[in-house]
Amino acid sequence: MEIIRTPRMMREIIKDLKAKSKSIGFVPTMGALHEGHLSLIRRAKDDNDITIVSIFVNPIQFGKGEDFDRYPRDFDTDCEKIKNFGVDYLFYPDAKILYPEGYSTFVNVENLSNKLCGKFRPGHFRGVATIVCKLFNIISPNRAYFGQKDYQQTLIIKRMVEDLNFDIEIIVCPTVREVDGLAMSSRNSYLSEKEREAATVIYKALKEGERLLKAHEDPREVTNKINEILKEERLVKEIQYAGVFDPLTLDEAKEKKNNYLIAIALKIGDTRLIDNILVEVN
Ligand code: PAJ
Repeated sequence: MEIIRTPRMMREIIKDLKAKSKSIGFVPTMGALHEGHLSLIRRAKDDNDITIVSIFVNPIQFGKGEDFDRYPRDFDTDCEKIKNFGVDYLFYPDAKILYPEGYSTFVNVENLSNKLCGKFRPGHFRGVATIVCKLFNIISPNRAYFGQKDYQQTLIIKRMVEDLNFDIEIIVCPTVREVDGLAMSSRNSYLSEKEREAATVIYKALKEGERLLKAHEDPREVTNKINEILKEERLVKEIQYAGVFDPLTLDEAKEKKNNYLIAIALKIGDTRLIDNILVEVN
């Protein structure tokens, strides 16, 4: 695995790979790699000749007072984890190179970016779309891999790819969970033992929501039930949103249909956790 630190070097390699007609699979990450990230890398390996992973804690997608400074960073452990995966290139750029003095260009995917997480993290998805756009321009992969864990992010990236005419296939991979259902996340490391235990309420609420929707309950009733379940957990400090949504528009689902998104964002202590599942009703 070769570690590449600059866009210029990365581009040279890409030019060479393209000349050899190699297909390129790309997995963007912020590091602190866990099984969720590794599942994307495995899939990219399966689908492509060459696999490129990026690690970059993107400052512009963190808001004031968010966890940019304390976000877990352990480059050596990350390298160790992916060493045996057959990753070809690890792109590990510096913030000063990606955002030099005078940097002024941002990508804003309107509408979708203002819903759900966007309401609580203003500017977050503008930061995500901007960095992913930059990385796509540097790497120009054939395919890029994202986790369903960040469902809204996948919708926004797909919209951007369509709107800005990127010739890149976006592949969304299933959420990888701990045995008790908690979605793997780099932020789980912030939780104390008691908080970690309490966090299982999220998956419980999602699964109960799924069960009720499949039993043809009204989605608004299901939203109420999900919120009741979450409120029963004492350590849940703040429910930012929780309920049943339209999987395409992210608007609240107000009537019965065949496809739903159940999505939750809440705080346990100071830790913000998100999770979701898609539900298909016959
Ligand atoms: P990060 O949180 O490091 O996640 C990188 C990728 O891993 C994302 O596509 C995310 O959805 C996926 N992922 C995280 N947890 C997962 C899980 N439990 N199961 C499956 N996939 C999971 O998302 C970002 O970084 C950034 O916003 C980024 C796209 C890199 C732009 O900075």
